[in-house]
Amino acid sequence: MARQHLLVILSLSAWWSGALLAVEDSEAQPCPERVLTDSRERLCLKACTQDSDCPNRRKCLCDGECGLSCVAPGRTCHWPLSIPHATSSLLSKFPSFSAQAEVRCNPGFKTAEGGAQLIMRCQGDRKWSVLEPYCLAEATIPSISCPNPGRLEHGYISGSLLTVGAVIQYSCNPGYQLEGTSENVCLENGTWKWEPPQCLQVYCPPPLEISQGYLVAVQKRQYEAGEVIYYLCKKGFLLDGPNRVTCQLNGNWSQTPFCRARCPIPAYRSRVLYGGQKVWIVDIPEGLVSHGETVSFFCRKKPEECSYPIQSECFDGNLTLPSCYEEPTWLQYKLFPKRVVSEIPAC
Ligand SMILES: *[C@@H]1O[C@H](CO)[C@@H](O)[C@H](O)[C@H]1NC(C)=O
Ligand SMILES: *[C@@H]1O[C@H](CO)[C@@H](O)[C@H](O)[C@H]1NC(C)=O
Ligand SMILES: *[C@@H]1O[C@H](CO)[C@@H](O)[C@H](O)[C@H]1NC(C)=O
Repeated sequence: MARQHLLVILSLSAWWSGALLAVEDSEAQPCPERVLTDSRERLCLKACTQDSDCPNRRKCLCDGECGLSCVAPGRTCHWPLSIPHATSSLLSKFPSFSAQAEVRCNPGFKTAEGGAQLIMRCQGDRKWSVLEPYCLAEATIPSISCPNPGRLEHGYISGSLLTVGAVIQYSCNPGYQLEGTSENVCLENGTWKWEPPQCLQVYCPPPLEISQGYLVAVQKRQYEAGEVIYYLCKKGFLLDGPNRVTCQLNGNWSQTPFCRARCPIPAYRSRVLYGGQKVWIVDIPEGLVSHGETVSFFCRKKPEECSYPIQSECFDGNLTLPSCYEEPTWLQYKLFPKRVVSEIPAC
C-alpha cells in the first residue's frame, strides 16, 4: 500500500518523491520500463505514465516487468492457495494488487530454487508472480552446485545451470582461438571438471615467398588479423591472382598469387593467329607471349590440302605445339614461302 501512495506522489512531484523514498520505503525504486510484452505466463495491462491515461478509474501503478500499467487496485488474486508440502500465508491485509504472499515449504522440502520459502506478488493481471509454486523433496534436488565460471576474456560462456551435471560451453570472439577444452562439466563434488580455457589472439605466420616474385613487407615473426602484404613479380612475369594477401581471422593468409612466366613460341617458320592478327612468328617481339595468351597454329588437312587453326594457350612458360603442326624446313620457308601450311588456302 505504501508503494501505491508513493507512486501517486511520484507523479505529483519528483522532488518530494525523492525525499519520501528515503524516509518511508527504502525498497521503493523507480518503476522499471516495460520489459515484458504479453507472454504465455503473464498479461500486461495498458501502459501509462499517469492515472489520467487510464480508463474506468483504474490507476497507473507499477506492475513488475510490465512497468507502469493501468491497474484496478481492488481486484484480487486467487486466495487461499493449496500447495502440497507447503503452507502459504498472506503478508498483506488483502490478496489484492501488489499484495505479497509467502509459500513456506514443509521440513524436508525445498522450492525449485532450493530455498525454504518464496515470496510472490499479486500482479495487475490477478495472477501471483510465481505461477505454480511448488515444493520438492530435498533428496530429489541437487544441492551441490559449481562456482560461477565468471567471464571468459575475449569470449563468452553459454549455459546457465551450475548444478551437478550441468554443462557450459566456451566460445571465443572472432580473431581469437580457444586454448583448452571448449566445454566444462560440473562434477558431483561441486568442482568444474577442467581448467577454464583461454581465448588467445590469432596471428598469421610470415606470408609465403613466391617463386619469381617479391614480398613488399616488413619482415616480422607474426602478423595480426587484417594486416595486408603486397606481392610484386620480377620483370617479365605476370601476376596471376590478387596482388596482396590479408591475414584472416583464422590465422591463415588469403589466397597467395603466382608469378607466371611468359612462353617462348616453340616454332619459327610459320604465321600464327595472335592478338587477333595473322603474324609471322619472327615478328612477335622476343618471340614471347604472356601467360594466359593464346596462339593458333595452322595444320594441314589432307587430301584437301587446306589449312585449319588449332589454338594453344600459354601457361606459366609452357606453350605446347599442337601435334598436327609441322615446322616447315628452311628450304620450304625461304624458297617456297607460299607453300608453307600457314599460307595455303584455309579449309
Ligand atoms: C572432485 O572430483 C574429481 C573427480 O571425481 C577429482 O578429480 C577432484 O580432485 C575432486 N576435487 C575435489 C576438490 O575434491
Ligand atoms: C588454414 O590453412 C591450412 C593449410 O592450407 C588448412 O589446413 C586449414 O584448414 C586452414 N584453416 C582454416 C581455419 O581454414
Ligand atoms: C607443358 O604442358 C604439357 C601439356 O599440358 C605438359 O605435359 C608439360 O608437362 C608441361 N611442361 C611444363 C614444363 O610445365
